[in-house]
Amino acid sequence: MQKYTVGIVGATGAVGEEVMRVLAQRDFPIKKLRIFGRPGRNDRSVGFKGKIIPVEQLTRDPHFRGIDYLVFAASGQVSQNFAHLAVNSGCIVVDNSSAFRMAKYVPLVIPAINAHALKSHQGIIANPNCTTAITLMALWPLHKRFKVKRVIASSYQSVSGAGQEGIDELERQIKLDVEERRMTNDRFVFAHQIAFNVLPYIGNISLSGYTDEEMKMQNEGRKIMDHPTFRASLTCVRVPVRRAHSISVSAEFHDTVSVEAAHSVLVGSPGIDVIDDPSGNRYPMPLEQAGHDNCAVGRIRKDCAFENGLSFFVSGDQLLRGAALNAVEILEELVKLR
Ligand SMILES: NC(=O)c1ccc[n+]([C@@H]2O[C@H](COP(=O)([O-])OP(=O)(O)OC[C@H]3O[C@@H](n4cnc5c(N)ncnc54)[C@H](OP(=O)(O)O)[C@@H]3O)[C@@H](O)[C@H]2O)c1
Repeated sequence: MQKYTVGIVGATGAVGEEVMRVLAQRDFPIKKLRIFGRPGRNDRSVGFKGKIIPVEQLTRDPHFRGIDYLVFAASGQVSQNFAHLAVNSGCIVVDNSSAFRMAKYVPLVIPAINAHALKSHQGIIANPNCTTAITLMALWPLHKRFKVKRVIASSYQSVSGAGQEGIDELERQIKLDVEERRMTNDRFVFAHQIAFNVLPYIGNISLSGYTDEEMKMQNEGRKIMDHPTFRASLTCVRVPVRRAHSISVSAEFHDTVSVEAAHSVLVGSPGIDVIDDPSGNRYPMPLEQAGHDNCAVGRIRKDCAFENGLSFFVSGDQLLRGAALNAVEILEELVKLR
């Protein structure tokens, strides 16, 4: 079996660590793993399959030659600065940031939905926004059957969506709040205390009143589903959950829907589990989805505000479906295309 040289930029972060774990777990055929990190930090290393891998500093003139696949899991700025350089050095780039998602020449891919888009790549492939990816795992099979018109949704996004520092901030604040029984000013990542709170604002506000994070569902959803008239009104909310995002969705369809038909579409759809027994207290929850590859959908009911509408709640590990697992699945598809 052919093996590949794989690189990861940002392997010490929340997403990068998961990329390494998923590569090992799925036994991706790796000949050599190279890790790149922030410049100015010497003598760092990470462990992979029992080996110690040195972290190379990502300097202005990085040595990418010989790498087959390079996964970016740092900031959008780092991707902007280095992705094209990597492509020119012969790498195929899978980018977790939002830097290239809407670029016409860049496929934006969830393999269970549009793996075919990979065929036209020109060196860079984008991983979608995590909230969008988790929502589409449930919405796409329903769209194929009933043709979605629009959705109104609210997200419940975990602190790890803001990286490792988000997790650290929640844990510090919970400790301070519990031990000292006071609001804390110990915050660097979120604008307000996140422990025992919810923050209805993620991303940067635009003139429309939506944040850029909120517009990703419509913009990226249109591109991934190849559905140019899809409309999505999303309110993004940060919640004091360590890991896994959830989304409450009301969706309107062109065709007549029923709860029974929705169930039969979703049961057996790839990457999604139906957990839907409210009277038995069985529904999707982030605590249960954390660490799981599949997303879960439940609370499926006829929407009482839309004519052909369904409401449902979907929960999934955003570090996996919204980042690392999706990226590794893309690598697996790329290998098949060689
Ligand atoms: N967190 C999520 O749920 C999630 C989901 C989907 C997509 N994403 C996207 O994935 C990317 C990574 O997010 P994250 O949550 O993993 O962030 P993170 O925990 O803050 O990790 C960022 C990583 O990037 C590295 N880095 C920072 N500046 C660098 C530089 N100049 N050169 C090389 N490496 C550098 C950091 O290395 P040091 O250890 O040296 O600081 C760290 O390893 C972001 O673009 C984010 O938007 C995140």
